[in-house]
Amino acid sequence: MNLKRRSFLSGGAVLAASTAMPVIAKKSGRSFVELPPENGGRAEEAAKKLILGAPCLQAPSDTTMGVAWTVNVLANGWVEYAENPELKDAKVAMCGSYGVTGFDDRILQVRLTDLKPATKYWYRVHARHIDYVHNYKRYPLDAAVGEIHSFTTFGPGADAHFCVMNDTHAKWESFARITEKITSLHPSAILWNGDAQNQTEDRETGVEIFLAPPIPRPGYAADTPVLWVNGNHDFRGFWARKMESFVMTRLPSERDSRDWALTRNFAVRLGDIAMIGLDTGEDKPDAHPQFVGLVRCEPYRVAQTAWLEDQFKRPEIANARFVVAFCHIPLFDPDPAAHPGGLIDNGGGRYRTAFSAWEKSCADMWGPVLARNGCQLVIAAHQHCYRFDPATPERPWAQIIGGGPKLTQPGMPSYPTVIEGYVADGLLNITVHNIRDNTVQATHTFTPRSV
Ligand SMILES: [Fe+2]
Ligand SMILES: [Fe+2]
Repeated sequence: MNLKRRSFLSGGAVLAASTAMPVIAKKSGRSFVELPPENGGRAEEAAKKLILGAPCLQAPSDTTMGVAWTVNVLANGWVEYAENPELKDAKVAMCGSYGVTGFDDRILQVRLTDLKPATKYWYRVHARHIDYVHNYKRYPLDAAVGEIHSFTTFGPGADAHFCVMNDTHAKWESFARITEKITSLHPSAILWNGDAQNQTEDRETGVEIFLAPPIPRPGYAADTPVLWVNGNHDFRGFWARKMESFVMTRLPSERDSRDWALTRNFAVRLGDIAMIGLDTGEDKPDAHPQFVGLVRCEPYRVAQTAWLEDQFKRPEIANARFVVAFCHIPLFDPDPAAHPGGLIDNGGGRYRTAFSAWEKSCADMWGPVLARNGCQLVIAAHQHCYRFDPATPERPWAQIIGGGPKLTQPGMPSYPTVIEGYVADGLLNITVHNIRDNTVQATHTFTPRSV
């Protein structure tokens, strides 16, 4: 099979040969031609439709990796993985959990666990279409296998190199350019800092945004894992309430039982960098009439404060030479003159707008914790305009805000960014790439914290 040609035809996906599962056919006593009459034709038709989307690596840690991918028919699936590119002696992890496997017509998810830190693995995804009428009338049909990809787990020994994208808002031309830039930089991880969505009222909108984007390189995250941070728009829409079906949550084993509900927070080591993910939530008070009682972010922010404090007691976080925190809504704003007055918002009464351009309650709770523990940098988003706020004696962490999705004319202040961070020569180097102009907008350097 010409994989490259098939990959081109299906946007990074692979359509398997129709004879891919002879063992299963033998065990079940069925094959395409042996299907009962009522299934005749459906099997062959379905075989043409079993297409795998490119996998997306999610929720990475030092010992685990999430793999999510799309299918077009009811299927279950699995991931083969090994420490060699030939997948010799590969292990197999099924989608879903114990008891029953995952079984879905659009999204399959597998969690790889018990991996070695800072270790390269190769993997490929599989899916098997199952013709399902009801529980006692279901037949295994065709199977498909994806191309071989690779990833490296996190940990102190990993390469400290990340790229941040934010506020992509399903603007596909910007998203295509952003992902092309990130791919060219070969980072160890992509941090998606929220507002990937606008509002997600149907499932296919979420599938498109997170797993099957209409861009030339839909498999941009097949070899580079994505750390996800919610933005305010990622709480909007009926299907946004089911985000775990698009973006896998952090594993429960990463936190104490007190924090079981903090499924989006992470504190992970990527080489010398401790990367901390915080969720600023929606951009208005919970009691705002627009929310009609469906939002509960205020206690969420409080709960994250205790979680954040505890992360610095973990040796691998306490001993990191660099600490970078990521959150969608900024924790600081330098320009009250530009935002005088204020209505109901979380901006400390400084905004005319009815939403928070920065998150004062988070700044008040999290800012001192980050300061006490030597965090050098907060990378935020939400304002759709790149800005650097240098550290001050009162606020010893700097803040960088990424740009927005608009590809406006050169010279205008709003443009998409990729914020690249890497450790070299004992320093944390930040390069802000202007994606509209394909230029370097700014560079910043941070010295190690004392540990
Ligand atoms: Fe946004
Ligand atoms: Fe936002």
